[in-house]
Amino acid sequence: MQRDKILYRLRSGYKSQSKQTNVNPERPLKFMRNYLYGSRVSKPQDLVSYINKYHFSFEYIIGRGGFGRVWKVELKRNKKEFALKEMQKLRVISKRSVHSIMNERKLLEKLKSPFIVNMHYAFQDRENLYLVMDLLNGGDLRYHYCKMKRFSEEQTKFIVCCLILGLEYIHSSGVIHRDIKPENLVFDSEGYVRITDFGVARVLTSDNSRETSGTPGYMAPEVLCRLNHGFQVDYFALGVIAYEFMLGRRPYLGRNRKEIREAVLARQVQVKPSEIPENWSFNAADFINRLIQRKPDKRLSGTEIKKHPWIADFDWNRLLNKTLRAPFVPKGKENFDQRVNSDWKDEIDYNLMQNYLENAFDGYYYDKRVSKSTTETRRTSIVSRRSEILSRLDF
Ligand SMILES: Nc1ncnc2c1ncn2[C@@H]1O[C@H](COP(=O)(O)OP(=O)(O)OP(=O)(O)O)[C@@H](O)[C@H]1O
Ligand SMILES: [Mg+2]
Repeated sequence: MQRDKILYRLRSGYKSQSKQTNVNPERPLKFMRNYLYGSRVSKPQDLVSYINKYHFSFEYIIGRGGFGRVWKVELKRNKKEFALKEMQKLRVISKRSVHSIMNERKLLEKLKSPFIVNMHYAFQDRENLYLVMDLLNGGDLRYHYCKMKRFSEEQTKFIVCCLILGLEYIHSSGVIHRDIKPENLVFDSEGYVRITDFGVARVLTSDNSRETSGTPGYMAPEVLCRLNHGFQVDYFALGVIAYEFMLGRRPYLGRNRKEIREAVLARQVQVKPSEIPENWSFNAADFINRLIQRKPDKRLSGTEIKKHPWIADFDWNRLLNKTLRAPFVPKGKENFDQRVNSDWKDEIDYNLMQNYLENAFDGYYYDKRVSKSTTETRRTSIVSRRSEILSRLDF
């Protein structure tokens, strides 16, 4: 019963305080524009119409997240391709993740780099949130690692160097990613890797011991033990990934967070000389060993990392300009697991919805064509004029 009520509220646009209305707040406000500015007035620069899902053709699903699917889409206006992450509001609220979703959207507005997945648009309708990003159609690292079982030293080095440039940029903006893992690292069609999923990323603060989100297998010991943590946590995760690519398993194993924490606390894992696979160098093992250090102060990070002999001679300028040939280039277009199409098995907690539906995602809208201040001002003025008009016209 509760479920039906909530779904009814979402689908019909029912509002508890105000009069019932079928007006979608994110709909292109063509009528409003004509009313306010006259239909013959030429369209001023900042009056680009509100972006919504009907501006895109949805092609196929390329990924699956905790709240919905990631689609390959094309912007109908100019045929440009993007990735669109669709997130069900019910699922976001039910998993108590409103903060994380708003946080990701806010951070992405500030971050722009050729080594991260950049945001172009963000909008919502009654049922879903939509995040439109750069399309990386080479698939994620988890998909390729599962298929290939290992990466070679040369391939691992290239991937690690792309990630170092991505992390260098994110950290220079004062942000810790906190969820570096193969699923959140995606290849473009040339074999360059970018960082995505800023759901649990945070601006660095000195008192963050209670913020312990992330994925246990890649979490630094200081996060697992609920201590204050800094940028070094992302380098620990990078070390775990490189270890996994070299040896085919993670350094600290366990079936859940508690077991992994115990494994981390039990001993310092190192790649032993006898474990170094054929065709891998001692320097690679040393690099990994310095990243998976349990004590953050001992861990290689920041400006020191590029000086390590394993990567000191890497051609960083050509990597930055993307003129190097990547040693691993994903083949074909369908670089994703067919399971992306299957359904979610988790239950939605409808009791949590009661107080949330109406304003939970206010401010989610983003259009890269319009600067922030213009978007905000335009939005405020149009929204207030809009209510004035609606009340006068008795909608
Ligand atoms: N820009 C992109 N281009 C191509 N594939 C992508 C892109 N972004 C995400 N993916 C694919 O979709 C999957 C899910 O995306 P993402 O990691 O952002 O969702 P999520 O883990 O649910 O994030 P969140 O924690 O915000 O819900 C990724 O593992 C990746 O395979
Ligand atoms: Mg993810």
